[in-house]
Parts: sequence; structure tokens; C-alpha cells
Amino acid sequence: MSEIPNRLWIANAWADARSGATFATTNPATGEVITRVAEARSEDVDLAVEAARAAMRDPAWRRMNPHTRAELLWKLADALEANADELAALETADNGKTYFESRKVDLPSVVENFRYFAGVADKVHGSTIPVAGPHLNYTLREPVGVIGIITPWNFPLSLAAWKVAPALATGNAVVLKPAEQTPLTALRLGELAAQVGFPAGVLNVVPGFGPTAGSALVRHPDVDAIAFTGSTEVGKTVMREAADTLKKVSLELGGKSPNIVFADADLKEAVKGASTGIFYGKGEVCAAGSRVLVERPVYDDFVAQFAARAQSMTVGDPMQKSTRLGAIVSAEQLERVMGYVESGKAEGARLVTGGERATVNGKGNFVKATVFADVTPEMRIAREEIFGPVAAVIPFEDVDDAVSIANRTIYGLAAGVWTRDVGKAHRVAQEIHAGTVWINTYNQYDSASPFGGYKQSGFGRDLGWEAALEKYTQVKSVWVALDR
Ligand code: NAI
Ligand code: MG
Repeated sequence: MSEIPNRLWIANAWADARSGATFATTNPATGEVITRVAEARSEDVDLAVEAARAAMRDPAWRRMNPHTRAELLWKLADALEANADELAALETADNGKTYFESRKVDLPSVVENFRYFAGVADKVHGSTIPVAGPHLNYTLREPVGVIGIITPWNFPLSLAAWKVAPALATGNAVVLKPAEQTPLTALRLGELAAQVGFPAGVLNVVPGFGPTAGSALVRHPDVDAIAFTGSTEVGKTVMREAADTLKKVSLELGGKSPNIVFADADLKEAVKGASTGIFYGKGEVCAAGSRVLVERPVYDDFVAQFAARAQSMTVGDPMQKSTRLGAIVSAEQLERVMGYVESGKAEGARLVTGGERATVNGKGNFVKATVFADVTPEMRIAREEIFGPVAAVIPFEDVDDAVSIANRTIYGLAAGVWTRDVGKAHRVAQEIHAGTVWINTYNQYDSASPFGGYKQSGFGRDLGWEAALEKYTQVKSVWVALDR
């Protein structure tokens, strides 16, 4: 591995924080400090925003031929692919997810994402509009300007790519603040962007904490838009703080997604799907199917098979091939997850399996795959986002009951439906208040398919070219008199 990136990335150069401050980033599987990283505070955010502003004035970026912009994005995808082993190892060290997930799922999707948006870069155009009078009217789609991107720790590089790729494809400049738990891959992304030829200031990366670096970005008068992924609570703060400067805001927030298993489903597939739904990525997934709704006639059978599958999820060293559940990202998150386990027990849910911590060589933040059954929709474990490998299984009576329970949440990010009845599947998909519905599958993503929330799961969409245009461009209407 080349040197571990640990300074701020501003205007295509490494920089220390003005204050000299640094913070430790830790490997959650071992508790060891990977490196200390420069900690951006408001004065550093100022410099990064200035660099981005300068890039927006620089003809090298502002007037860049769109085909060239596309080519740069494609080259960045190539560079990410060429460095995939290193990036995946950094991601796993920082986040605790299995190397398999980092290398075989996250990295390929990041590469695909940059290629997809490379294809968008030279297809951003307005329209000609038939208006009254002797006038020609047309629209231009212009970049919004400087985009502040704030990302969480669960899919550090992927979620950065979801926003950085479309923002750059549409000609904006970016200041990216990665989560303090997992800043490393974002820094390498900045460095690789420079290596393939993005002009200085187009992509700046400022690791730091939310209330300082994050808030400074949100409040900055020279930042035109904020694209945020993280908790619903912080999303609300971001929206409030962005109001003073009337920034364009998009929020991809939490969820409590229902995974609905009907009695006529292929039960084996449904068990597998429910299992990936909640245990993939240690359950630290915004779209995690954390509420598993099961129709009465198959309820007992399902719970037994689901619990058996949970028990087979090997907890261990994320670098080991046999490991299915890596380490929870931080000690703080581990405490939060264990707190929910206690709350489930206290509120009378039946702990079927898991609910315990684990260690590897006496170290690390591990939790066993946990299944609670006989959960009622009122319990905290059925209402609040846990963000850990904890499933809440809830029985239901019929279609209406399932839909009613599924929608009884402040969230609306995703849902799963398992049934062999085609009509029922599509009907339920229409009734669910969520931005994504998976039928007889779960956790599918594609750069071309929009992803985002209903209700308090936020607004604005990531992925897909239409969403990119909506978020990262603004429309200018140009009028021309034809009679003079
Ligand atoms: P968080 O929402 O605090 O962190 C997400 C990002 O927001 C990080 O980059 C953080 O530094 C930044 N941030 C925090 N406070 C900020 C502020 N005042 N202004 C601007 N930026 C700020 O999430 P946290 O505390 O790490 O996790 C808490 C819970 O949030 C988790 O247990 C989970 O339920 C949820 N979460 C949801 C995510 C999702 O993908 N929807 C991702 C991460 C967490
Ligand atoms: Mg936080």
C-alpha cells in the first residue's frame, strides 16, 4: 500500500489544518489507530471553498469541453479501478466491513458510477421553447456552483461517488467532508482526481467533525448547495443551518425499512433476502430491511429458518474470506446497537438469536447477528433506526395489515415485498410510502436507478441522470427578440 493519506486535500495539494489539529482514525476490528488525520475547522473549510470558487472561475474548468470532462471522469474511474485493492483495504481498515464487500461490491460500483456519470457529462442540455411573440426562447442547464458534500461512514467511498460523480459531470466544484470515522478513501479520491487531470480546486476534501467542519460548510455563504447523507437528526440541522444562505439542499437520511414476507412467497428465497436485507454491511445500511414483516401462516417456520441463517453468519476478522459480519464502525455505534438490544428485551420482544458482543483475539467492536421475534410496531426496536445487525420480526394478518404496519413509520427509504402473486406484488409496491421497493429481491442498486427517500428519509435523489440534473444544475431561460 502506498502511504496512508492523512492531510487535507485543497486545490490539488496536501495541507495541514491551519490550527495544526489532528484526529485519530481507528480500525474497529482491532481498536488500533490507523493514522492521525488533519482536522479541518472553519478556517480550513474557508480555504477549500475559496479553492472551489476559484475553480468555478477558472476557464480550464468553466469552459472545459464537455467531452473532455467526460473523459476525465472516465479516467478517474480507470484510476479507481487500478487502485481498487488499496482502496478496498483502506475502506475495510477504516469501516470494519469485510474486505469482500469493499473489494467486490463497493469498489466495482464506485467505478461503474464514475463511468455512468462520464456518459452524462456531454448530454446536459436545455431545450427550445415555443413562446408568444416574435421571440426565441431557450434554456441553458448550468452548474449550481460550489457543492458541499457531507457523507457518512457506512459506505464512505460509494456514497462520496454517488454525489461527487454527478456534481463533477455537470461542471460544479466540490468540497467534500467525509465522516470523521472513515476519512481515508475520500482523501485518495481527491488525489486520484488530480492525477488524472482535474484542475486545482475542482475537488477538495476536508476531513473533520460535523459540528465544526460540516457546519462551517453548510453555513458558508459561498457554497451554493449541500448534498448530505447521514442521520435524520443531523439532516434537520443541516436544513435549518442552510436556510440562512438559502442553499439548495438534498438529504438522504435514515430508514426503518419493512421487508414484507407473504405466505405465498418462496420461503427459502425470502429468508435469504431478509438476511441480506438486515445483515449485509453489518446492518449499517440506510436501506436495511430492519423490520421483517411476516404473514401468520408462515411466521413460525420463517422465524426458525431466519434464526438458523443468522447463526451461520460468521463474525470475525473482516479480512478473512469466511467472515460474513465485520466490525461495527465505532465503539460509540456498538454501544448504540447494544442499547437497542437491551431495549428490545425490556419491551418484551423475544430474542431468538444473537444479542451479544463478540471479539476477535479479544479485540474489536463485533456484534452477533441478532433476531428479535414477536415484535410489535410500538416497540422502539420497530420504530427507531438501529444501524446494526438487529432484525425486528413482526407478524401480520393480511395485505392491508402489512401495508398499514409497513407505513407506520416516520421514514420512507425502501421496502421489500416477497410473494409469488404478481398482482399483489405490484399493488403493495404502489401502497408503500418509500423511495425504493424491491420485489422478491433486496439491496439492489444501479448507477442508472434513482435512490432516495420519502417522508423523513429525506428528499432529492442520488443516482440516475435525471436526479443528477435536478440536483446539480440550474435552469436559465434566455429570451431573444427576433424582430429587431
Ligand atoms: P451523522 O448524521 O452525525 O453523520 C453523518 C455526517 O454528518 C458525518 O460526516 C458527520 O460528520 C456530519 N455531521 C454531523 N453533525 C453535523 C452538523 N451539525 N453539520 C454538518 N454535518 C454534520 O451520523 P452518526 O452520528 O455518525 O450516526 C448516528 C446514526 O445516524 C446512526 O446510528 C444511524 O442510525 C444514522 N446514520 C444514517 C446514515 C444513512 O446512510 N442514512 C449514515 C450514518 C448514520
Ligand atoms: Mg454524529
